[in-house]
Amino acid sequence: QQRLKSLGKQGIFKPQRVHVIGAGTMGGDIAAWCALKNLHVSLQDQSPDRIAPAIKRAHGLFKKRLKSQRPIQAAMDRLMPDPRGEGLAKADVLIEAIFENIEAKQSLFQAIEPRLKAGALLATNTSSIPLETLAESLSQSERLVGLHFFNPVAKMQLVEIVKGEATKAEEMARAAAFTRQIGRLPLPVKSLPGFLVNRVLTPYLLEATRLLSEGVPGPVIDQAAIDFGMPMGPIELADTVGLDICLSVAERLTPPEQIPEELKIKIQQGQLGKKSGSGFYRYQGGKSVKSQ
Ligand code: NAI
Repeated sequence: QQRLKSLGKQGIFKPQRVHVIGAGTMGGDIAAWCALKNLHVSLQDQSPDRIAPAIKRAHGLFKKRLKSQRPIQAAMDRLMPDPRGEGLAKADVLIEAIFENIEAKQSLFQAIEPRLKAGALLATNTSSIPLETLAESLSQSERLVGLHFFNPVAKMQLVEIVKGEATKAEEMARAAAFTRQIGRLPLPVKSLPGFLVNRVLTPYLLEATRLLSEGVPGPVIDQAAIDFGMPMGPIELADTVGLDICLSVAERLTPPEQIPEELKIKIQQGQLGKKSGSGFYRYQGGKSVKSQ
């Protein structure tokens, strides 16, 4: 850990261009954060329509943080919508943030590996898939590192730097240097289920969901957590993370019979949380309307 810190501080790796694939909740916000921190960013998704909401959110972030027009415009200019993935070959850092699906991620890695610049950092934002599984699709499996950001990206300081079986120590150090460059705190972890943060957080979110199914209203649970000192209650936090993401992490940590039915039912109904407009709560313009 000490070695990672000092390598990060020495700034051995100073990337200028980042390519993010997946412009959803996480990829969009990671791209915006990197552009805010003076990197040139290309943002890829399956179509321009999927990138547009992320660019709009980025504009909101730049307005809030940068205040005046010139720096806001400069940040917007650094963030390029890139539906065809043209920025990939020039990027110093590639961050994959597509759906949490093994086959989708593996086939993406297989397709992009030959197009990567030599020496580019190759990172995944997966929250639950073992790095070893994703690395099977690569010929240079030692290159893959996890850069596990938390939601919301602009507020959460910590980034878990995930080491798979094959990941080289040098890639871990470069990932830590990049994380520091964008003003975030790297925490090296092994590729074990839940890494570190979700291992602790997921049982808490599942227990809150069980309370909900026992009839305790969501706002009561959330207010209790806030009064206790948490910045956000667990029910709203589950909606913020995305219920599908919570389930995929829970499936790695918990026997199936212990996963609350409510969570599965919501997902079957397409109620994935804030990103779909409703989950345990309903949302208008990103703000919760506290009814269940
Ligand atoms: P999301 O569902 O909001 O976004 C995924 C995006 O990927 C979609 O816009 C989709 O169109 C795009 N996509 C899918 N396949 C693609 C492909 N082949 N090429 C280009 N774009 C493609 O998902 P979210 O929540 O942003 O999660 C993304 C990743 O980040 C997952 O691996 C998840 O486990 C991880 N993660 C999620 C967190 C959260 O709080 N939501 C926190 C930390 C990690």
